[in-house]
Amino acid sequence: MELYEAMRTNPSCRYFTDEPVEPDVLHRIFDNARFASSGGNRQGWRTIVVRQPETKAKLAELHARQWDVYVSHAREGVVGYQTSEQKTKMASYSPTQRRLSRTDDFASSLAEVPVLLVCCVELWTLAVTDKDLPRQSIVGGGSLYTFVQNVLLGCRNEGLGSALTTLLAAEEAEVVRLLEIPDDVAVGALIAVGRPVQEKQYTKLTRKPVEEVVFDERYGRPFTAG
Ligand SMILES: Cc1cc2nc3c(=O)[nH]c(=O)nc-3n(C[C@H](O)[C@H](O)[C@H](O)COP(=O)(O)O)c2cc1C
Repeated sequence: MELYEAMRTNPSCRYFTDEPVEPDVLHRIFDNARFASSGGNRQGWRTIVVRQPETKAKLAELHARQWDVYVSHAREGVVGYQTSEQKTKMASYSPTQRRLSRTDDFASSLAEVPVLLVCCVELWTLAVTDKDLPRQSIVGGGSLYTFVQNVLLGCRNEGLGSALTTLLAAEEAEVVRLLEIPDDVAVGALIAVGRPVQEKQYTKLTRKPVEEVVFDERYGRPFTAG
């Protein structure tokens, strides 16, 4: 598949068939995703492929716990660590009922998704350059999510659907116990992978235009092609 087409047609897939995903396909995805960039090329990403039903059920339970928290916060327009100004902006982004119910279906059927990838990172590899700033830190994840995005695109390239969730990170203590994750390794994401139920999920995605999100020389001045 052509790269730009993959980038433009890779939605969060929340409905999967129960067709298994062959290990060689997953291996090929990882074998390409591992060429992602990371700070100092330390490649601290570590991924656990979970296919056993009991383990998936436990992960689904942990995810569902945090999904319930998220939903109650989302209904109040409060998600994550936010200042009061950020909360006001977030209120205008409250999830639609349709999106909530799709994500609700996803949360309640997570245990049946063929493959769950638990994406972790070795903390010693991260140079968290914004850790002393008086705001929440965002930089550390940079050396994990480049790999994660490559995995999502790799899935698309293989005709698989995928969905990323970071809710599981809040249940890290339990996940660590369940998957025997060593100290100094953090849980950054879970990716659900399988065959999508409907091909039509690959239709056009709703995204902001370049001019709204990329700026020319100064913040707020739209960057244009001309
Ligand atoms: C950091 C992050 C966390 C996300 N968490 C969830 C989640 O918990 N549950 C879910 O169904 N989708 C999750 N998503 C997927 C987004 O909801 C999705 O990308 C967005 O709604 C756009 O949908 P689309 O890609 O299908 O157009 C997450 C995406 C990101 C980047």
